[in-house]
Amino acid sequence: HVVPVILSGGSGSRLWPVSRKSYPKQFWPLLNDRTLIQETALRGQVAGFSDPIVVCNSEHRFIVAEQLRDAGIQKSHIVLEPVGRNSAPAIAAAAFMVAEQDPDAILWIMAADAAITDEEALRGALGRAIEAADAGRIVTFGMRPTRPETGYGYIEVGAELNGVHGVYDVSRFIEKPDAAKALTLYNSEKYLWNSGMFVVKASVFLQETERYEPRIHETVGQSVRNRHTDMDFERLEEKSFAAAPDISVDYAIAERTELAAVVPGSFGWSDIGSWDALWDLSAKDEDGNAAIGDVFLDGAKNCYVRSDGIVATVTGVDNLIVVVTPDAVMVSHRDRAQDIKHMVSRLTLAG
Ligand code: GDD
Ligand code: MG
Repeated sequence: HVVPVILSGGSGSRLWPVSRKSYPKQFWPLLNDRTLIQETALRGQVAGFSDPIVVCNSEHRFIVAEQLRDAGIQKSHIVLEPVGRNSAPAIAAAAFMVAEQDPDAILWIMAADAAITDEEALRGALGRAIEAADAGRIVTFGMRPTRPETGYGYIEVGAELNGVHGVYDVSRFIEKPDAAKALTLYNSEKYLWNSGMFVVKASVFLQETERYEPRIHETVGQSVRNRHTDMDFERLEEKSFAAAPDISVDYAIAERTELAAVVPGSFGWSDIGSWDALWDLSAKDEDGNAAIGDVFLDGAKNCYVRSDGIVATVTGVDNLIVVVTPDAVMVSHRDRAQDIKHMVSRLTLAG
């Protein structure tokens, strides 16, 4: 059987000032009236699949529980990390818990904060991924790159697998190349972007973790065995989990394993990494403006303006992002939307 595993650990600093550490982007309704984590969890509600597992920081437990309930998801397992140790330990925790019941169960690992617009195309790709995972592979989803992005993983597609149509060997997986390398990979047209979703048997993930990151296997295994139940939550034991190396699944496993496979797909995926990406996805007027909330525009072009409860007016400018919240205003050129995270880290330093 298939178990949806939702990773909810990022802080989404490029979507400041809406996204905050205490209330990051996955908990906001950014595209429609559902939040990103609600959309993700509903995507996992497939007939015959198990109840979802959400792995999140302990601080966010009530937000997660409330949002799942409000989305109509009656049953789920919410696993609490005492501290964030990145995605490899988070997935390992879910894999250990699932393997207690059934080591052959297949994990469908999803980021809590990605958008997918073509659910039907996703279903097709997922079906093939499950077949390959059943045969012992670690399956990724590859999307055609549209720019030389440095924030993603790149997948070189090899030969089609024997017996599983539409799934290919991964010849090479390169996580977050530098700018020069990203440009080479993009221009070669031989690479696909990694979507950040993985489909893999619990036992296979644990076997590869033991092989490439034995320290994660040991520490996370112990924290799962020593976990305790707190109301509706499962708390991982702090001391051993905190000792786990801080590393993402991409560096820990995807770059090293020989079991990686890829399903090339086109399902309207976006990781909503920045306000510019959100502008791209939003409904716009004939001048290319997306206006959300109490916003008035005059003579503006290709702007993204969002304000809730405070009237915001924007006149005679192009390509601006303006986001107003009760305690902060952010203005940026659309081309500089990625740099907001540097500003946010300065604010943190300033207390
Ligand atoms: N529970 C938990 N704990 N979740 C975490 C943690 C953690 O400590 N760290 C990250 N996550 C979650 C994030 O919330 C997100 O849902 C997912 O794991 C991926 O983490 P990101 O930090 O957003 O990764 P990334 O965007 O830099 O890179 C990944 O995604 C790209 C696509 O968006 C990689 O898989 C890339 O290869 C991929 O291209
Ligand atoms: Mg991300």
